[in-house]
Amino acid sequence: MVTFVTTNPGKIHEAQEYLDEPVEQLDFDYPEAQADDLATVAANGARAAYEHVGEPVIVDDSGLTVDALDGFPGPYSSYVEDTLGIERVWQLTKDEDDRSAAFRGVVAYCDGEAFEATPEPVDRGSAESDERRGQDTAADERASATTDGQVARDEDAPPVKLFEGVVPGEIVAPRGDGGFGFDPIFEYNGTTFAEMDTEEKNAISHRGRALAKFGEWYAER
Ligand code: IMP
Repeated sequence: MVTFVTTNPGKIHEAQEYLDEPVEQLDFDYPEAQADDLATVAANGARAAYEHVGEPVIVDDSGLTVDALDGFPGPYSSYVEDTLGIERVWQLTKDEDDRSAAFRGVVAYCDGEAFEATPEPVDRGSAESDERRGQDTAADERASATTDGQVARDEDAPPVKLFEGVVPGEIVAPRGDGGFGFDPIFEYNGTTFAEMDTEEKNAISHRGRALAKFGEWYAER
């Protein structure tokens, strides 16, 4: 069984499509530490959720990254959707020559144990994951980011395995009535996510791609 810590029951149905194991929702609103990248937010969330629950957990974090805006809004996607709104994100991007963007989803798994090295990175609680350091670090190299951005060694920080799914696309003027969030301004192969039906979108979604990678690894584990 996989325990998915989320307040959103819709994510459980989606996860179940990608995993052979039964997926159970644990409705716990874990504290989200601020960070400039989705992987760090997801890793810290998985650690907090694991420490609260005391059993193996997954959490996910996703968002839109716009290349011309240096990856903004990224982990701030939900906040930006509620404050600026998607029309303003389109306005910010529309005069750029390059309007490429991506939806990114990160699934983070923590069970308190160390992990063997695979292509997927392991976050050990430092400000950077293995991938971002470009190294395959040993399990005992654990650290944690403090709130002021300093990196402090923390021998007790459990490692977190990260699985990223990416859907590349382009920012366009809003089109379509379906979906949610930034779907109307995100075009994939000529169609915005808001113009696709749920089945079509789920078949290519970033969350699905991350869950599929996790599912494959978890089946082996
Ligand atoms: P969450 O981490 O899945 O809760 O997503 C955070 C935010 O990213 C959402 O509130 C949306 O603003 C944006 N987002 C994530 N996934 C999607 C998507 O599939 N379509 C549109 N917006 C998304």
